[in-house]
Amino acid sequence: MHMEFQPITAIAHPNIAFIKYWGNKDDVLRIPLNSSISMNLDGLSTQTTVQFDKALDDDEIFINQMPASDEASKRVTDLLDIVRGVSGMVTAAKVNSQNNFPMGSGIASSASAFAALSLAASRAAGLCLDEVALSRLARRGSGSACRSIPAGIVAWHAGTRDEDSFAEQLVPSGHWDLVDCLAVVSENHKTVGSTDGHRLASTSPLQGMRVTDSDRRYQRCRQAILNKDFELLADVIEQDSNLMHSVMSTSKPELIYWTEATLNVIHMVSRMRKIGLEAAYTIDAGPNVHVITLKETLNVVETQLANISGILHTLSAPIGGGVRLVALQAEPS
Ligand code: PMV
Repeated sequence: MHMEFQPITAIAHPNIAFIKYWGNKDDVLRIPLNSSISMNLDGLSTQTTVQFDKALDDDEIFINQMPASDEASKRVTDLLDIVRGVSGMVTAAKVNSQNNFPMGSGIASSASAFAALSLAASRAAGLCLDEVALSRLARRGSGSACRSIPAGIVAWHAGTRDEDSFAEQLVPSGHWDLVDCLAVVSENHKTVGSTDGHRLASTSPLQGMRVTDSDRRYQRCRQAILNKDFELLADVIEQDSNLMHSVMSTSKPELIYWTEATLNVIHMVSRMRKIGLEAAYTIDAGPNVHVITLKETLNVVETQLANISGILHTLSAPIGGGVRLVALQAEPS
């Protein structure tokens, strides 16, 4: 008789970067060229259950109740292989991953997905990894996933090798009433994903400058957060996002994610700030605009955004917690 493996479930939030990660020193280990800072997004989450099972020949992976694509399955199996390597087991696993936000909502699910998978898979394999080890593991699946491990606003220290490239908390979620109000302008799947995008970054003549100046922006962003200085935060996150999109748009081939509606939101945010409202934009590898604001200003921001042509809907998220285990209710017998 062999011991049965228990199913383990973990939950994690996606994050939005204030100081962006774009380009690696090492594409395989996902060691970034610059340190980054992000905020976890409360209310949005990926829940993942992992069970190793000796009856399986290969890993079985389901995302939102559908069998995962070959590409997604390979990324999950690669991460499970790392866990199997560390724990010394060879057993295949069944993985069920479920997002509570629509795939087409413009929120990258890879960060929350690989953060939840790292905790669920390592525990299911009998490992008890600390936060740093979990962050390093999640990074191997998707770089930004390492920032979805700690709670609150999080800094990812770029480091130079596997051991020293991980994220840690900068401030807990209760530190500041920041809210991300995401203006969804397109629900289409991005044409060039970030794994390929990171590889293209070095083809832009602007990438060297973006990386060289990144520590200055990182320090300003850190200060803005520690001092709850919204004006400074707005100034630095918009500049950082624009620098990343300048690199993207000058890569070969070029990556242009913005649409007319993206620009409409950018102009609206500038107008809001001119009249004294706390609002700042930041944009990931897609056309949707994350408008960072404060809880007390959220209603006004939502009303202003509702007037812009091209916005499909908005989604709001305050600062979220870190990855955690979930005790599932037993099925009624
Ligand atoms: O973790 P990845 O490989 O999906 O890259 C994330 C890239 C950006 O979202 C554009 C920036 C960031 O720092 O999250």
